[in-house]
Amino acid sequence: MIRAYHRARGEKRTKVLIPDSAHGTNPASTAIAGYEVVEVKSDAEGGVDLADLEKKLGADVAALMITVPNTLGNFEPRIVDLTELCHASGAQVYMDGANLNAILGITRPGDLGFDVCHFNLHKTFTTPHGGGGPGAGPVGVKRHLEPYLPTPIVTKDDDRYALDWKRPHSIGKLQAFWGNFGMHVRAYTYIKTMGADGLRRVAENAVLNANYVMKRLAEDYDLATPGPCMHECVLSARRQKKLGVTAMDIAKRLLDLGFYAPSTYFPLIVEEALMIEPTETESKETLDQFCDAMITIAREAATTPEVIHQAPVTTPVRRLDQTRAAREPDLRFSRKA
Ligand SMILES: Cc1ncc(COP(=O)(O)O)c(C=O)c1O
Repeated sequence: MIRAYHRARGEKRTKVLIPDSAHGTNPASTAIAGYEVVEVKSDAEGGVDLADLEKKLGADVAALMITVPNTLGNFEPRIVDLTELCHASGAQVYMDGANLNAILGITRPGDLGFDVCHFNLHKTFTTPHGGGGPGAGPVGVKRHLEPYLPTPIVTKDDDRYALDWKRPHSIGKLQAFWGNFGMHVRAYTYIKTMGADGLRRVAENAVLNANYVMKRLAEDYDLATPGPCMHECVLSARRQKKLGVTAMDIAKRLLDLGFYAPSTYFPLIVEEALMIEPTETESKETLDQFCDAMITIAREAATTPEVIHQAPVTTPVRRLDQTRAAREPDLRFSRKA
């Protein structure tokens, strides 16, 4: 849609700028769309390095793609300056909505200056995340991009819904037009059930939960940034690594202690990263149990690291060869003990 927009204005722009803190899906989808990916540096606080952004913006830049709040769990306070800077050089601004959980009912991507935003329903609107799906990512655009939306568009005339295919400037039909339809119904039901006030409370509780975890773990783990954070806190296991215990070891030991492990090794700009995103739904009791488990592991790293290295011992399978598991998946059900 961004390409169609530039084309319609007689412009050929070939590059998309992406901060070095971005999720790998951002450069991947940009490259699949045929754009050259140009990395923008982060500053010491993990925000966008404005000088680097200004240097890289130019007549050949189609868009900036950025996550708000950023992948370190921080809200970029200069976000409006950033989007204005991009617009001043003719670039569009795309928001990766993976972290919408933090700002629901508080601010809107459009108000921050974004032209396009996708919504990862499986990160904010209750769709389960993990195990490869079922995700869904509807895309919202500002009015100037509306002519380029994929066909068909759902229209409503009085009480009748219809599919409108007659849109001359559309980028055409996407293969997965219906997406994971059930997930859209699920998200819609959640939104209607919560209402506007409820959705704001979602963000407030998600942010409170993440800050609670951050505070409780701040003594035993290094923090990626000082905080307060938004809906996720990023820790670094660099202290534990000096004792021979990596972020991956901690994730495996958490399984023994009854917790599905958080994201590890992301964002890439944080050494031995552990990204904890509790969401709005966890109770204080669960958060405390999780924090207790994390603190136990930090103490074990100093006293009995072999326990961590052996983990997991309570799961049906122990540590898998991850590369082999991805390359030669064995999906047969086996009754073997
Ligand atoms: C900032 C960000 N963007 C995009 C993604 C990709 O998410 P998915 O492909 O599951 O929608 C993630 C996943 O964690 C993320 O953190």
